[in-house]
Amino acid sequence: MLNFSLHTPTRIVFGQGEVDRAGDVIKEFGKKVLIVTGRSSTKKTGVLDRVVRSLQKAGVASFVFDRVEPNPRAQTVDEAGRLAREEHCDLVLGLGGGSAMDAAKAIATVAVSTRPIREYIRGNSTGLWQQLLPIQEALPIVTIPTLAATGSEANGGAVITNWETKEKAGINGPALFPKVAILDPELTYTVPANYTADGAVDIFTHLYEGYVTGDEHANVQDEITEALMRNAVLFAKPAIDDPQNYEARAHLLWTSTLALVGIANAGRGGSFPVHAMEHTLSAHYDISHGRGLAILTPAYFATVIKQDRPQRLARLGRRVFDVICKDDEQAAQAAIEAMVRWFKEIGTYDTLKNVGVKRSDLEMMAQETVRIGGLGQGTLAATHPLSEQEVRAIYEAVYE
Ligand code: NZQ
Ligand code: ZN
Repeated sequence: MLNFSLHTPTRIVFGQGEVDRAGDVIKEFGKKVLIVTGRSSTKKTGVLDRVVRSLQKAGVASFVFDRVEPNPRAQTVDEAGRLAREEHCDLVLGLGGGSAMDAAKAIATVAVSTRPIREYIRGNSTGLWQQLLPIQEALPIVTIPTLAATGSEANGGAVITNWETKEKAGINGPALFPKVAILDPELTYTVPANYTADGAVDIFTHLYEGYVTGDEHANVQDEITEALMRNAVLFAKPAIDDPQNYEARAHLLWTSTLALVGIANAGRGGSFPVHAMEHTLSAHYDISHGRGLAILTPAYFATVIKQDRPQRLARLGRRVFDVICKDDEQAAQAAIEAMVRWFKEIGTYDTLKNVGVKRSDLEMMAQETVRIGGLGQGTLAATHPLSEQEVRAIYEAVYE
């Protein structure tokens, strides 16, 4: 097991109806909150009103910023950061999916620093990843997820896109950990089938990325990861078939939080190359993050992991998908097939062509992925450093 330092400071409040405690939870952090949310779902479902009512009851004033787009943009963040300052907000509440929560974290940052968020983004417009600034200061952040996917609710990262340069990359730092995350699984009842499935694949990917690339002497982390992957697989279909299945929604939501809160990957290291490849796709084509991961994963497994670490893939197959082959090579292949069957069953199996990607962009996107995700190394970290050509080959393999 590798050395590690783990700090997971977010208080979690979990359960049915807990959203109505938002006011009591938030009043601890100030008198006026900027509610950061998406453009429509929280209004349609009534959850925004419910939160505002709970705040009013607790004597907390609120100001709503409801213009966060999926794959949130730097320009939107800067605008909302200005509003937070003008409105003298004491804290920021991210209410919605990963996009709203990530935007809330970024807004909390620029509200304090007054600097544009692009200056903090890895792969910022100068292309100099070295300029990534760890974020030490931000307004206090509270999160209320309405979609089980990113784990943003309880981690110290956010992903923002500079829409002018089409650069999508992470920001992180100690100040971005939410003070409290209120996880009310009922808020996810209204998530449509496609986003439920894409979210489950995002959870699964947060788990397998470190598992297939990281140190192999971290058995407790591996077994935690396997349990979480199994639960994502187990509960995605029931949540799609019966959107108000509380146990399925509760398990997906808690699994999403645990997957990226730091525990599964601590002491194992590893890298997130499929995320880097996907971020380029959603930066250029504005597609759903989880869908992009579902498109890329089969080719990544087949061309990289099956060659470099078939025994890891075999173990994943046996522990998560009940593959029973004794031979590791065969079990690795069976793992890929079982995963693809799961993607098809939940309706997230797809191709780049089908989501509108132009074949003529693949070379440019491979370059971008290595430039931004490669953090200045000229390759993308995985089980071996992936070259631009290898990244491009993965894009080609899943094109149609
Ligand atoms: O935009 P609104 O109107 O809110 O609708 C959203 C959006 O259209 C809708 N939705 C959310 N909750 C709903 C709902 N619809 C009905 N009922 C509900 N309860 O779902 C759509 C997708 O929402 P979005 O927030 O974009 O999805 P997701 O949670 O997958 O977040 C994706 C973003 O998070 C980043 C991704 O790159 C992407 O930008 N990530 C953040 C991470 C982190 N901070 O740790 C890690 C991830 O790997 C990921 O990169
Ligand atoms: Zn992800």
